[in-house]
Amino acid sequence: MEFAYSLVQLANGTTSIRSLAEGETFHPVIGPVAEAEALYVRQLRLAERLAASTDAEWVLWDVGLGSAANVTTALRHLADIPKVLRIVSFDHTLEPLRFARDHAQELGYPVGFEEAFGALLERQHCEFTHGRLSVTWQAEVSDFPARLESTAPLPAPHALFYDAYSPARNPSMWTLPLFRRLFGRLDPERPCALATYSRATLLRTTLLRAGFVVGAGEATGEKEETTLASNTPSLIPRPLGPDWLGRALRSTSAEPLESAVYRQAPLSEATRAALVDHPQFRPV
Ligand SMILES: C[S@@+](CC[C@H](N)C(=O)[O-])C[C@H]1O[C@@H](n2cnc3c(N)ncnc32)[C@H](O)[C@@H]1O
Repeated sequence: MEFAYSLVQLANGTTSIRSLAEGETFHPVIGPVAEAEALYVRQLRLAERLAASTDAEWVLWDVGLGSAANVTTALRHLADIPKVLRIVSFDHTLEPLRFARDHAQELGYPVGFEEAFGALLERQHCEFTHGRLSVTWQAEVSDFPARLESTAPLPAPHALFYDAYSPARNPSMWTLPLFRRLFGRLDPERPCALATYSRATLLRTTLLRAGFVVGAGEATGEKEETTLASNTPSLIPRPLGPDWLGRALRSTSAEPLESAVYRQAPLSEATRAALVDHPQFRPV
């Protein structure tokens, strides 16, 4: 696969990266750092949860490593916490990371992490301290759906950034079989929250069908709402309720994707029945 990237100036004056081959701009609305702060750092309550954790290490999955804007922003916010953070980043290419390292000054967020980026590029692994935080960072360079299908072990996450391109552009990253496997990788004894930028009904029905509790996420820039999902209701402050379910039952684009082919369809009878029966919508 051929990958090429360029710098782009966003309307608000910040600089981001554009994948020329895929025709996609990373963090196109409010820019890389502001999006990472609003979407992942704040609403996943990373600092608070990491500081309170008594586990030997705290595991963060970063799906769609790209140029590592999300991870570097998170690290800056966690620098004062004397804990061990293990980051597992997934991407099928490290070329955006290389591009970001080579354009660190223009982008800003890679500055100070050039050595870590270099180690990831060279051996897909690095260890360093960032302030009081001890960091172990590994890059899993493969097709993410295929990686989840493999039996090779992965540490169960406490938090997960889900930053793939949109379902229409990148359907293989948004199928129900993939999210079922992802849910299967969680440790039922380890509360985990996932955040993603989309609020699409199709995404939310997929997460619900995969076993997650699903809630409305905070606004980020022009997106008035995002999505939070978890294996425990305690990490979901605004769970989707009956109003949302009513809209999903009437929606023309709600049925989860079974395969990596994007299509829009209303809910099937089987999905309707499963959603109505989801514990999240059962009256207490
Ligand atoms: C929106 S970008 C991620 C931006 C990134 N989080 C950052 O902070 O710069 C989406 C990323 O998903 C990766 N990607 C797309 N399809 C993939 C797949 N099937 N498996 C693994 N990674 C994939 C792309 O290479 C790209 O880097």
